[in-house]
Amino acid sequence: MQKNYQTTKPSDFLYERMGPWPQPSPAHPIGESAAVVHLPLKERIDWWIFIGSRYMLTLFYAPVAYLRGIIHPGLKEVSDSDFLDMIENSMLSKFICDRLDETDKKIFAKFISENSQYAVVDLEPVKVVKTFEGIYASGTKTLLKKDAFNKYSVVAIWVEKTNSLFVQSDGDAWELAKYFVLQGGALCATLVIHPLLHFPFDAINAITKTCLPKDHLLFKLIYAHTRFTLPLENAVLTFKTSLLQAKWWMCYAPYPGEKEGLRELLVEGYMGINNNTSYPKFSYPKRPITVHSKYGEFQDAYYEVFRKFVASVISDIAPDDYFVKCWANWISQFVPGFPNGDEVFKDDNLLNAVSYYMWNVSVGHTVDHYNYGRMDHRKIPLRLRQAPPVKGVKMIDRSKLTTFFDNAKYIMAQILFFDSTTVTSIIDIEYNFEKANHLQAERTFKDELKVVDQKMKAQNMQYIPLEKIARSIQS
Ligand SMILES: [Fe+2]
Repeated sequence: MQKNYQTTKPSDFLYERMGPWPQPSPAHPIGESAAVVHLPLKERIDWWIFIGSRYMLTLFYAPVAYLRGIIHPGLKEVSDSDFLDMIENSMLSKFICDRLDETDKKIFAKFISENSQYAVVDLEPVKVVKTFEGIYASGTKTLLKKDAFNKYSVVAIWVEKTNSLFVQSDGDAWELAKYFVLQGGALCATLVIHPLLHFPFDAINAITKTCLPKDHLLFKLIYAHTRFTLPLENAVLTFKTSLLQAKWWMCYAPYPGEKEGLRELLVEGYMGINNNTSYPKFSYPKRPITVHSKYGEFQDAYYEVFRKFVASVISDIAPDDYFVKCWANWISQFVPGFPNGDEVFKDDNLLNAVSYYMWNVSVGHTVDHYNYGRMDHRKIPLRLRQAPPVKGVKMIDRSKLTTFFDNAKYIMAQILFFDSTTVTSIIDIEYNFEKANHLQAERTFKDELKVVDQKMKAQNMQYIPLEKIARSIQS
């Protein structure tokens, strides 16, 4: 007999039916994802032991970070080939959008010919950042010409603050414009698009723990990917010591402006930007969003393994399962685009929803940190000490484009937050299955993850080694 609310008892559930639950974000009920603010004590303690304590200990590194800032002041040169490589082959390639909107077409009209194909790297969201005195930031758009599959050349950069266009022959203005693009990439990566891999998934994490019985197959699949995440999200969003507070004394807060503007970046990511094809409103994706680069190919290769594994397990869930319907109904109230109880068993909706969750909180999330967290902070600045360029401008010495404490704060943030933290790895995951066919599916899943890892390595596309991929959001 299929289980329902009458045939289960409180002890069948992880938190005896009194677990965490999402609510409209207390900071911004309309503009941000639903948040989970009341957390089980057990989860908070677990997070403090394995992650919070690491933050505290790492603070002792601050004097070394400041010394490194003094020894290596300012920025490094970013050659044109470096610049293209960063856009084309790193997590910044997520910004490559092959659909130019009307504004893009208008700005770049004189560069666009009918015989070529173009893409744009649109970093418009930066315009909401309210910079500190002496520090500058600007929205930018970079026009790319498509030369071959996932291969581009840079045509021009538009800088919003000065409403100016620059090309390679513009000398210092071009050099400065590239730094503003990379600064925009750093800001939009960490505060516009990466948060979409975090916060919308908290509702799924919480509702799964609270409303699905512990022996339910769907619980087993998702629960293995939920540890550490809720306290981490709560710390980022609500702690007075969060780097988003951007206080001057925080030796780990590297952003160029005040907290209100930074928080507004999160809203732009979640709510989207009107008439901008690069920033649609968040809707729970059916599969990973296409990334036009090797980075995207890497992500997709792993996704297919997750999907196959999930398909083999959920085929044993009845197509009218009472708890799955309840689960979907509740989540769909908090996560736009998530299938509700009537939709979840139609087509591949359940398969898509579960595969995307599992892939996102493990591969999708960790690879972003691993890739961005290892970038050279002197090539992808978060703060810039010269105003956005106009034609003919002379760039100040690179060593003065950032101060030693700008660099030190960035180094600290990289160690603490941006680089990936892997406490529990995907390859050691256990789903607590009991039946032989599910245990076999788990073994096959791990074998296939290893195959993808080796394949990526052989093709020089191993953006993160398999053993470094966390099984849940842990950083
Ligand atoms: Fe993250």
